[in-house]
Order: sequence, then C-alpha cells, then structure tokens
Amino acid sequence: MASHILITGHKGMLGNELFSFAENSGMQVSGMDLPEHDITKRDETSAVIKKAQPDIIIHAAAFTAVDKCESEADTAYRVNANGTQNVCLAAKELSIPIVYFSTDYIFDGEKKEPYDEDDAPNPQSVYGKSKYEGEEFVRELCPKHYIARISWLCGHGGQNFVETILKLAADKDEINVVADQRGSPTFVTDLVPEVYRLIESESYGIYHITNQGYTTWYDFAKKIVELAGLKMRVTPCKTEDFPRPAPRPKNSRLSHRLYDETIGNKMPTWEEGLQRYLKK
Ligand SMILES: NC(=O)c1ccc[n+]([C@@H]2O[C@H](COP(=O)([O-])OP(=O)(O)OC[C@H]3O[C@@H](n4cnc5c(N)ncnc54)[C@H](OP(=O)(O)O)[C@@H]3O)[C@@H](O)[C@H]2O)c1
Repeated sequence: MASHILITGHKGMLGNELFSFAENSGMQVSGMDLPEHDITKRDETSAVIKKAQPDIIIHAAAFTAVDKCESEADTAYRVNANGTQNVCLAAKELSIPIVYFSTDYIFDGEKKEPYDEDDAPNPQSVYGKSKYEGEEFVRELCPKHYIARISWLCGHGGQNFVETILKLAADKDEINVVADQRGSPTFVTDLVPEVYRLIESESYGIYHITNQGYTTWYDFAKKIVELAGLKMRVTPCKTEDFPRPAPRPKNSRLSHRLYDETIGNKMPTWEEGLQRYLKK
C-alpha cells in the first residue's frame, strides 16, 4: 500500500471518510481543500502537491451541487474539468497514480440494462459533462489511473438523500418521491475500504462501484422511513411532477461485475448499507 496519500476534497462527504480511514490505518495522509487550497489554481496546486511528495493522489474534490452546476456552468467546468486537469498534471510530473471519482450522470439513462464501463457516455447535465471532461483529463494525462464511477452517494456529515428524508419527516406527514428513476445508493463507509483495496490491487482502469442491488428513489425513501421507524407517508410520483434544473438519468444503474470479478470482494447490499448508516 502507498505510504503517503494526498486526498483532494478531504473535508467533503467522501474525502473526509477516505482521510479518517487512511489515518486510522496508520498511513501518512495529507489533504487539499478550500479555502486553504484551490485546485483551480494550477501553479499553486502543482507546488503544494510537489512539496507533499505523495505516492498517490485520491482526487475527491469537485463542485457537486448538480442543480447549481446548470446556472454556474463556468465554476462547474473550472473545478470538475480544469481543476482535475491541474491535479493530473501534478500527478504526471511526479509519475504517481491517481484515483478519480466519476458519476452515473455521464450516461443519458436511456439504456434498458445496467451500464457497463465501456458503454458510450452521453452526459445531459452540466455536472455530468464537466465530470466526464475530468475523466478525459485523467485518461489522457495519468496512465496509472483508477476511475471509480459511483452513484447516489450517502455519507455522514454530508448532504445526501437519507438526511433529506429524515429532515422532511420532522415536519411533514406525507411526501411525493420519484418512482421512475432507478439506481444504486453508494454508502461511503462501504465504498472507502474498496477504494483502498483497489489501490492495493494495482489493477488500473475504470470501475463502477456501488452497493449491491438496484432501487428507485421512491423505494429508497420508503425503506429509510421504515428502518428509521418514522410515520411519514411516501407517495410515488413521476420525474415530470418534480421538475429540477438539471436532468437526471432515468436509468442510473451501474453494473459492478468488472469490479467484483477483479477485486473479488462484493460490496454489501444497499439495504445493509442503509441499516448501518441509520444505526451510527
Ligand atoms: N454526492 C454524490 O451523490 C456523488 C455521486 C457520484 C459521484 N460523486 C463524486 O464523488 C466525489 C466526492 O463527492 P462528495 O459528495 O463527497 O462531494 P462534497 O461533499 O461536495 O466534497 C467535495 C469537496 O471538494 C471541495 N472543493 C470544491 N471545489 C474545490 C476547489 N476548487 N479546490 C479544492 N477543493 C474544492 C469542497 O469544498 P466546499 O464544500 O467548500 O465547496 C468539498 O469539501 C466527487 O468527485 C463527486 O463528483 C458524488
């Protein structure tokens, strides 16, 4: 395992858990996040990374507010595409590997089956397009790369669907939740050990990594309410009934067969991930 890891976005939902896991496992770990370090500043990013001399970069920094990306497209591209380019250039100078997190939003959601790693991307939102440009910089600049495509990320201390439902239940008796978008939740505490396992394997490439099993936002919401012992009624609705600035893929299902076969370790089901999340 790499002895010194540098994590960008280490204060975020995923980065924070990646950082704690590395620290608790006795690895040397450095972080880069706002406001101290801004990955959109190329020279500064290069200088900070060169000074730290890490053995690997885990790049979790991103502009992740999907709807805001539509109205703040310049920022989305500056952070998710050019910021990633800056981090990759530094990794290239040091000839070290990089881990990049991508998303189900790089697909248009029209496929009838779960998406494989080699399916053609066709992002429909600014967030998806900017993250896909980030992927392209990673592939172009860093031959030793891991691109982990994840979906519906849920971690403590972050803004995520579980927290949204729990908050709504505090003052609502009933909510409508879209039932025609399908995907897989990815629980941060299940994902993080897999990221380090992947690094240890040195099996570079693109992987879809999510919890096992697929669901809809509606069924996910119902399960949260049930497991948390709440009374709120959850009613199914259609995507059209709940318009949002950024289009969402109807099919966000990512097939993780390649990851399971390469690493030989299956992620827990999303229901198990949820149960553990709610207990913490
Ligand atoms: N959340 C999901 O559902 C989801 C799904 C698929 C893929 N992903 C990907 O997974 C990764 C982690 O997501 P997350 O949900 O953990 O994100 P997050 O909680 O928003 O964390 C991202 C971190 O990056 C920081 N950051 C933003 N712009 C920066 C800049 N210019 N320079 C340095 N740091 C900057 C953020 O700081 P501020 O908070 O101050 O802006 C934040 O601390 C991202 O690559 C994301 O695209 C997420």
